[in-house]
Amino acid sequence: MAEATNIYPIYDRMMTRTDKESLLGQRGVMIWFTGLSGSGKSTVALGVERELHKRGILCRILDGDNIRSGINRNLGFSAEERTENIRRIAEVGKLFVDTGIVTLAAFISPTNEARALAAGIIGEADFKEVYVSTPLEVCEQRDVKGLYARARRGEIKDFTGISAPFEVPSSPALELDTSRLSLEESVRRVVELIVNNK
Ligand code: ADX
Repeated sequence: MAEATNIYPIYDRMMTRTDKESLLGQRGVMIWFTGLSGSGKSTVALGVERELHKRGILCRILDGDNIRSGINRNLGFSAEERTENIRRIAEVGKLFVDTGIVTLAAFISPTNEARALAAGIIGEADFKEVYVSTPLEVCEQRDVKGLYARARRGEIKDFTGISAPFEVPSSPALELDTSRLSLEESVRRVVELIVNNK
């Protein structure tokens, strides 16, 4: 792909992140959920959004449905395409974080490389990794979308946890196993992480 030329950034004339944060009275941050399909990433993110909204904190969820059916509709699940998926999400997420918004990204993001790429784009200081560590057996048993069954039958190739890898994050800010914790407890822990992010 050709690099864009003749680009004249106006960043130096735009109002700053600090301006936006004082307007909103909150700090922008990226909460990056990672975990297997069906582990509970989106469910926890939805609960966190509701709870923070109640407390007057502006949030934005980015997840597979609004990203893979929109800006990333041309991407599949090869290793390269997953990395590109995550790169674009991180770039979009950065715009929200720079607007002072609490941004909740819920994607499998299966490799250390992809998560490091996202952290690099967003900036380590604004990047909080939440590993939703619900075991594969439980995710497969839930099989909310029927995809594990299809992957086991060989109808979907490169399926994370079955025929494609998931690398366990080495030092997440938080780990949540939704087969052991109630939804309320998982939500409470993430909210605490955000509220303590001063
Ligand atoms: S990621 O690996 O690139 O981060 P992402 O979170 O965007 O994945 O999308 C995962 C969702 O896509 C899954 O929850 C599932 O519904 C669907 N999906 C379809 N094919 C696959 C596949 N081969 N591997 C994993 N998830 C898949």
